[in-house]
Amino acid sequence: MRLEEEVRIPDTARNLNGGAMSTLEVQIEEPVTFVISGALGDLARRKLIPALYTLFKEGALTADFAIVGFARRDYDNRSFCKLMEESLREHSRTAVDEPSLKAFCSHLSYYRGDLSDPAAYAGLKAKFDDGTLPANRLFYLSITPDLVESAVTGLRQAGLITPPHSKPWTRTVVEKPFGRNLQSAKALNRMLLDHLDESQIYRIDHYLGKETVQNILSFRFANTIFEPVFNRTYVDNIQITAAETVGMESGRGAFYDQTGALRDMVVNHLFQLLCLVTMEPPDGLEARSIRNEKMKVLRALHLATATTHHPAVCFGQYGGDSSVKAFRQEERVSPQSKTETFAALRMEINNWRWAGVPIYLRTGKRLAKKTTEIAVQFKTPPLSLFQHVACKGDVCDLAGVKPNTLIFRIQPDEGIFLQVSAKRPSMQMVVESVNMDFSYSGKWDKALPEAYERLLLDALRGDSTLFTRSDEVEAEWEVIDDILAIATKSEPAVYAPGSWGPAEADAVLLSTGWKNE
Ligand code: BG6
Repeated sequence: MRLEEEVRIPDTARNLNGGAMSTLEVQIEEPVTFVISGALGDLARRKLIPALYTLFKEGALTADFAIVGFARRDYDNRSFCKLMEESLREHSRTAVDEPSLKAFCSHLSYYRGDLSDPAAYAGLKAKFDDGTLPANRLFYLSITPDLVESAVTGLRQAGLITPPHSKPWTRTVVEKPFGRNLQSAKALNRMLLDHLDESQIYRIDHYLGKETVQNILSFRFANTIFEPVFNRTYVDNIQITAAETVGMESGRGAFYDQTGALRDMVVNHLFQLLCLVTMEPPDGLEARSIRNEKMKVLRALHLATATTHHPAVCFGQYGGDSSVKAFRQEERVSPQSKTETFAALRMEINNWRWAGVPIYLRTGKRLAKKTTEIAVQFKTPPLSLFQHVACKGDVCDLAGVKPNTLIFRIQPDEGIFLQVSAKRPSMQMVVESVNMDFSYSGKWDKALPEAYERLLLDALRGDSTLFTRSDEVEAEWEVIDDILAIATKSEPAVYAPGSWGPAEADAVLLSTGWKNE
């Protein structure tokens, strides 16, 4: 390929923002209206608007894109812009400057209406009909689950949903929770599929938009050396942790008390990480192939069998101390709440590759530090060469050496680390564990894109690879339903805020040596 061919920029790739190629390397190529239903809510202000602003500044949106904030409260275009400006100043990762803000605001408008009132949608339709808004439409349903049905029905009845695979196109992004259990997830899917085609539904799990999560597949399948050892012959166990230091900030008490860690984190984010790290190589990188492989994992996934000394589950709830409230004292949380704010699970995948390999999942609020990582721990090598505890001559004990562990650090300090054993420089044969590190910050100096930037751009471009399909969601609930039944019957163990969860979790995590660290 000649150089001129490589760098030729198609007209559609230029935008108002200086006409430059997007610095994100991809951009949408057609005019779109992005409607945020629930535009005054926390998610819109903290994540959606900042992500759209970054996409705009980076040149990924076309010149004639439009963002419509749809909500009930009394705002107009001006006051809505003002509010969004404030959000950007607080939450944008991209520098906020006056000219860009002004230009961004010129794409924003506010549409006032009751999301549960079908008449409100007719007014919105009129704006598409009279050409005020670009005809391709993406509806982001940033609303509580109880409003989803009336919102989708309203869109349908007003004629806002165009036929699938046609132009202008319609897409809807649906936020979790996708139901509360298998039965309600199925009902939600049925309802969505009554009004929309599966190809028009984008169920968002923001973990899939994280750069480090996408790298799991590249790392596994773009290298030859790891895949042959990713199986029950070589892997001792897999540990997936999503620990958070936050509690019920931003008034989440009422929502979380109804939800708990299993529904909030495990059934979606942790199961998705588990699928990516254990799935078979897909036959392509498009949505269908990857989702099909994830489905196979979910069908084979189940809770491990508990024994008296080795339970398969532990649920916890954070207590308080002099500086933070206990969960039961949080605003809008029942003082008798039994909701789990911590969960540790021992799972298994019943297939040829992973049979018998424990997969430990652990997540919780108010833990010692914010960290999300996947550790694939390999079996220890045969130790017969190094049996002696003390060094004799130049031979020392290997038993203290840690097994090889491959760590995918999702956040923070994003990177991939491999722990290996090496000889410490000495006159004796002393072996110790050392790290081979790849860290994003050491390799690339630019900040990683936010998950929402990637996912919104994908939805705008019609790429559903990083979104979950209806059967995937149902398969996830099928696995968690049994675990929820156990959680409902158990009393969560109280743990100290700032700890690694209840001591009882150690028994679940027994064989890993991972415990409270
Ligand atoms: C959300 C959960 O989906 O993920 C929150 O509802 C949780 O409770 C959040 O805090 C964690 O996301 P991240 O990207 O900070 O790990």
